Amino acid sequence: MNQQITPLFGALQSFSHQHPLSFHVPGHKNGEVFADKGLENFAGLLPLDVTELTGLDDLHAPTGIIKEAQDLAADWFGADETFFLVGGSTAGNLAMMLTAAVLGRKVLVQRNCHKSILNGLELSGVEPVFAAPAYDDEVDRYTAPALETMKQAIDQHPEIGAIVLTYPDYFGTSFDLKAVVEMAHQHHIAVLVDEAHGVHFSLSEKFPVSALDAGADIVVQSAHKMAPAMTMASFLHIKSSIIDRADVAHYLQMIQSSSPSYPLMASLDLARYYLAGVTENKLQSILDSTNRLRMELSSVEGWKVAEIREGVDDPLKITLQVDKCWTGTQVAKLFEEQGIHPELSTDSHILFIHGLAPFQEWVRLKTALEKISGQLKFLPNRDTIGSVKFEQQQVQSLEFSYQTMNRMRKEFLNWTRAEGEIAAQAVIPYPPGIPLLLKGEKITASHIKMINYLIKQGINFQNHHIEQGIHCLR
Ligand SMILES: Cc1ncc(COP(=O)(O)O)c(C=O)c1O
Repeated sequence: MNQQITPLFGALQSFSHQHPLSFHVPGHKNGEVFADKGLENFAGLLPLDVTELTGLDDLHAPTGIIKEAQDLAADWFGADETFFLVGGSTAGNLAMMLTAAVLGRKVLVQRNCHKSILNGLELSGVEPVFAAPAYDDEVDRYTAPALETMKQAIDQHPEIGAIVLTYPDYFGTSFDLKAVVEMAHQHHIAVLVDEAHGVHFSLSEKFPVSALDAGADIVVQSAHKMAPAMTMASFLHIKSSIIDRADVAHYLQMIQSSSPSYPLMASLDLARYYLAGVTENKLQSILDSTNRLRMELSSVEGWKVAEIREGVDDPLKITLQVDKCWTGTQVAKLFEEQGIHPELSTDSHILFIHGLAPFQEWVRLKTALEKISGQLKFLPNRDTIGSVKFEQQQVQSLEFSYQTMNRMRKEFLNWTRAEGEIAAQAVIPYPPGIPLLLKGEKITASHIKMINYLIKQGINFQNHHIEQGIHCLR
């Protein structure tokens, strides 16, 4: 297919050039009716923010320009079918979990998954079996569950119809997904992959193999995270003999807006076009730039820049392993004071994401690094609490079904009373939005120790009053 064209963006552009008169929604009437103070920023975009007018197709029953744009994306990524998502990978993951319920009574889920997977489990009513991630000493983080753990879970729970994995993780680290797919397909189990951070893996072998190329059945990707697309713009791809595409389409129209944003969809058309236009030479200049960024960052004493293992780690992700005397969050604040904003910080890491074009602002970066280097010695040392390892069962089911839990009484308990109780809510440090404690899980001393430790390190949680305690089931 001709990847140089952008049928959806092109049609919107032509339509706006006709200066149409709007007697339809949206209320901004192609930008004619809008708050003055916002016009300078919004004026260019509002004429593209249209609705399902004649010739502009319908996301939920596409036959025209949206279908063409989706088909081009399917062709470039190597999918049987691609759906545009306007509610982020969050919407894709919800639809994926609703589909998982069609595939079997139980689903095997990587425990350190994004909260949208957990929310999807709750909505779908499918029974989760959680597989604990392994700890990778080399990168000092939990990564994916071992293949053996997944095999063990499948032996124990023959009702499993799908495996749900996060690939790569937030830091761009991948694992041998092909081996998992092979094992799963032997049991006629579908592999559903949250590849939110890997939309660019189809570009080249310099990146880890893409989930679709590894044989996954459904793959969800946030185009807005690693490709140049607008926030929330994402893809869901299917390549499978197990999945019924009509099921996925049904759940997507249930979850996504009936008035999907045309600028978001057009940005997906443009992002696919941008990816398809990355030549070998351009890619090399991007990778050279990532290497230079690694080198510049390595010039400061106070952290170690994590090595990139070819085929395993995403070279666009640059992780600083901060010296043990400070937390990643403390050091990240110094960067922010210089107007440099990393993607995230944890108690021991800071993550930078390089774009899909060579970085330009080297002088500004170097000046900032010199200042940060000078300020590091004034940072107070972190609490000497030391890092805490988190004990978890390798294969775990919940104490009650989500339906039962939702009918039970909930009571807020202080941490001193919470041990041995069942959590009525998940505890999720954000970012990266991966649960430490699951809704329906028995609270252990290890959970409490870990949560207290992270609170002391200044990590954010999306739970109210997390410093005091948690809602438990009674
Ligand atoms: C692994 C993972 N999956 C899904 C999501 C949700 O993606 P989105 O922001 O596109 O809804 C995120 C967001 O950070 C994520 O890290």
